[in-house]
Amino acid sequence: MAASFRFWRRTEREELHRRVFAALADNVNYDHQPVLGVPASSLDDDVFNQDAHFLKDAPFISTMVANPNHIGCHTFGESESYFKGTQEIERELIELCAVDIFGAQPGQTDGYVASGGTEANIQAMWMYRNAFVRQDGARAHQIGLFCSADSHYCVDKAANLLGMPLFKAAVDPKNRSLSDDELHRCLESAKQAGITHAVVMANMMTTMFGSVDAPSQWAEACRRAGLPFRLHLDGAFGGFYFPFASGEQQSQSALDFRNPDVHSITLDAHKMAQAPYGTGIFLARKGFIEHVLTPAASYVSGEDCTLIGSRSGANAIAVWMILQTHGPHGWAEKIYILQKRTAWLASQLAEREIPFFRHPASNIVTMRASAIPEETAQAHGLVPDSHQHPEWFKVVVMDHVTIERLDAFLEDLDRARKDEP
Ligand SMILES: Cc1ncc(COP(=O)(O)O)c(C=O)c1O
Repeated sequence: MAASFRFWRRTEREELHRRVFAALADNVNYDHQPVLGVPASSLDDDVFNQDAHFLKDAPFISTMVANPNHIGCHTFGESESYFKGTQEIERELIELCAVDIFGAQPGQTDGYVASGGTEANIQAMWMYRNAFVRQDGARAHQIGLFCSADSHYCVDKAANLLGMPLFKAAVDPKNRSLSDDELHRCLESAKQAGITHAVVMANMMTTMFGSVDAPSQWAEACRRAGLPFRLHLDGAFGGFYFPFASGEQQSQSALDFRNPDVHSITLDAHKMAQAPYGTGIFLARKGFIEHVLTPAASYVSGEDCTLIGSRSGANAIAVWMILQTHGPHGWAEKIYILQKRTAWLASQLAEREIPFFRHPASNIVTMRASAIPEETAQAHGLVPDSHQHPEWFKVVVMDHVTIERLDAFLEDLDRARKDEP
């Protein structure tokens, strides 16, 4: 997290409302302007009444009803003029996340609000694949996709879609981290299989363990292996958590744009930021996104360098409103409370000698399934690593996961373990 904030500040409700309604007024108005050729309109008025009295106090719902289409990327080139008001808020949101959360220099980042972490991660792999193909004449099957075995399965989708061979480095089961030897082995075996370029996806909090990779370790390993590389950080889960929980020291340890080896970042607002689904955020250093510009999108003003195509402008408004309502210090306090609850759960498990993994800057606690009776896990909504053969169960300490809820789980756990034969 940045030490000072250029764009992010707590904003009063009235000011937020004023800003969103002004942005909507700057968008096209289908009722009052001639818009004959755009295949878009406001939401169906018979179902979503535009005059409903509560709308004047509901900027997000009003944006949903007005239904702006944020198709394309608004930090690069031209955009559709019809939705310029709300696109401006999206641009502000991208800059806020890049500069004030991930230490980018102002004006140096492209990005957009994607459908989710899956899309944002695939967008990154697509971008780097095309860049290596164009700049170095590489073929897709020579560009390896590298990640840890704990990475989210969207990387398997990316490899499959993009025709890139996938290499997963094994993690140490004790601390879920990658060793230099394992990275060396992984990269050398890829080279032997004909790989000449590397696209790395490093994790800022994995789905199951909340574990965090060291991007610099990957970067050094690629340099030692003589492989040109691009590195993407998957902060789909951790992007709105880890920078606030890790403290300045740890985020400086290279998990943001201050590290020149980090080229792009995913952070999902629909996870820890409690935004509506459809709010994956993709950020990339300038100079890359043009590699996925699709000139065939010639009817879209500015063409299109996103994977998704049409997307709701209301999603950007929702995330921007959430962040501005809390402000950076309010956000840090929110994460501080979740960290305290998570630490409490971890200490309770340690007292009971239940084996678990937790990264110190994470709100995920992952317990050995052998120590948790299945009925207790089910009754308290714990999530297994595999529904067929669970080896681990996780608790994710979200807003609604209070100490009371955790305590009830522990009480049940104690009872069940006492009753065990
Ligand atoms: C680390 C990580 N990356 C990517 C994703 C995929 O995100 P989405 O479900 O928004 O596509 C997830 C989802 O849980 C995740 O935890």
